[in-house]
Amino acid sequence: MSSPAKVAPEPERVRTMFDGIAGRYDLMNSIISAGRHHHWRRLAVKAAALGPGMTVLDVCCGTGEMTFALAASVGPAGKVTGVDFSRRMLEIARQKALQRGQLAEFHYGDATHLEFEPNSFDACTVGFGVRNIPCLRDVFLEMSRVVRPGGRVVCLEITKPTRPPFKQFYRVWFDAVVPALGRIASRDGSAYRYLPESVRRFPAADELAAIMRGTGLKQVRYRLLAGGIVALHWGSVN
Ligand SMILES: C[S@@+](CC[C@H](N)C(=O)[O-])C[C@H]1O[C@@H](n2cnc3c(N)ncnc32)[C@H](O)[C@@H]1O
Repeated sequence: MSSPAKVAPEPERVRTMFDGIAGRYDLMNSIISAGRHHHWRRLAVKAAALGPGMTVLDVCCGTGEMTFALAASVGPAGKVTGVDFSRRMLEIARQKALQRGQLAEFHYGDATHLEFEPNSFDACTVGFGVRNIPCLRDVFLEMSRVVRPGGRVVCLEITKPTRPPFKQFYRVWFDAVVPALGRIASRDGSAYRYLPESVRRFPAADELAAIMRGTGLKQVRYRLLAGGIVALHWGSVN
């Protein structure tokens, strides 16, 4: 069986795709998740175990929704930083930060080669991003590297439900409804055909936990949300 790492698309294709859908990304996110993504993000923020004055890095930050959710838990004395390699997604994140008066910083960068010193942050998160990265091990190693010992690495991602009725719902929703909505909402419907493809090749929750443990993270746990359509994983840096 080929590993998920081997069949993930080229980074350049992923970047071009997100640049292309950036303007409609937030709306599509709300439609696809029926608005539930805010709740899932709040749970991810809780899993990051942050407190006032702490620092947190959000990789694959996109339009900044996870980054902004993290800001509340570190407060004005803390610092939140988002990194993404789609300039168009970052532009939207920066515009939103200005409009909302949020202090988050956004940087261009690759999640697998972060330009930060080791132990720079109290936690590092990734929301709906690792599915797009060819080598999962590389991204968790890199996220762990920039977090201080004892800090958390948190991953929120779409996964494949294994139990009915969510298994059947998932097939109809992600394989038929989402690509159709994508065709209506964006000129390039291929981005929303890509979504179910990317989830299909993504490892199941227990496999992802094993990959995280394999990078040296300790106390790796996960929780399935929305009937197993979304998985929230977290672990501590040693
Ligand atoms: C589905 S969006 C998620 C955005 C945001 N985290 C959220 O929760 O809405 C995935 C993002 O990952 C970014 N991305 C994918 N691979 C990346 C990489 N290797 N380095 C940095 N960003 C990457 C894409 O540009 C895109 O903005």
